[in-house]
Amino acid sequence: MPDPVDATEFRLTMRRVPSPVVVITMGNESEMRGITIGSFTSVSLDPPLISFNVTRSAQSHQLLQEADRFAVHVIGESQVHLANHFAKPHLTGEEQFENVPHQINAHGTPIIDDVTSILHCVCHDVLPAEDHSLFLGRVVDLDDRVDDGAVLYYQSSYRSVGSELRSSLLPPVNSSASGSS
Ligand SMILES: Cc1cc2nc3c(=O)[nH]c(=O)nc-3n(C[C@H](O)[C@H](O)[C@H](O)COP(=O)(O)O)c2cc1C
Repeated sequence: MPDPVDATEFRLTMRRVPSPVVVITMGNESEMRGITIGSFTSVSLDPPLISFNVTRSAQSHQLLQEADRFAVHVIGESQVHLANHFAKPHLTGEEQFENVPHQINAHGTPIIDDVTSILHCVCHDVLPAEDHSLFLGRVVDLDDRVDDGAVLYYQSSYRSVGSELRSSLLPPVNSSASGSS
């Protein structure tokens, strides 16, 4: 059996993969929380499904499992401080939101002011994934606001998106069908 991949090496390799940065919020009658997430992606168009992974040790994990709704906040360049804030461990839900302008919607979900987009979701499924759970959400409403530039997380820091790479300016990759050998 081959040696297992070293966790540090795995982390170093994954740092080379840029990830999106969103803040996911959820709540019930007695509690609310937000968590910064990089594992967010779209899954299906019909129905519209999204997914993200949450470590079982996160405070948000249990609340997400109990909540049947959550909101995905796409942040812009001027909201990177929110990503930092909602990645801080050990804050209570109250401490998380006391200085973050927000509204509580009809489902008890905190909705943060002035973000780029919000995807309002109902929980579609939760799948076990070893030390994480994979949450699938069905998007039931969209709220697009001012686009303030996308934020990525790469090599352990927040980045804006760089210039477009013009693949047409590079030599094409020869396909075997072109007959070159
Ligand atoms: C850019 C970024 C992306 C992150 N992505 C994830 C993620 O996809 N899943 C996860 O469980 N934690 C992720 N984290 C870590 C959580 O935001 C952090 O551990 C949080 O404090 C744990 O949530 P809790 O307050 O509910 O315990 C990320 C942190 C950062 C800064």
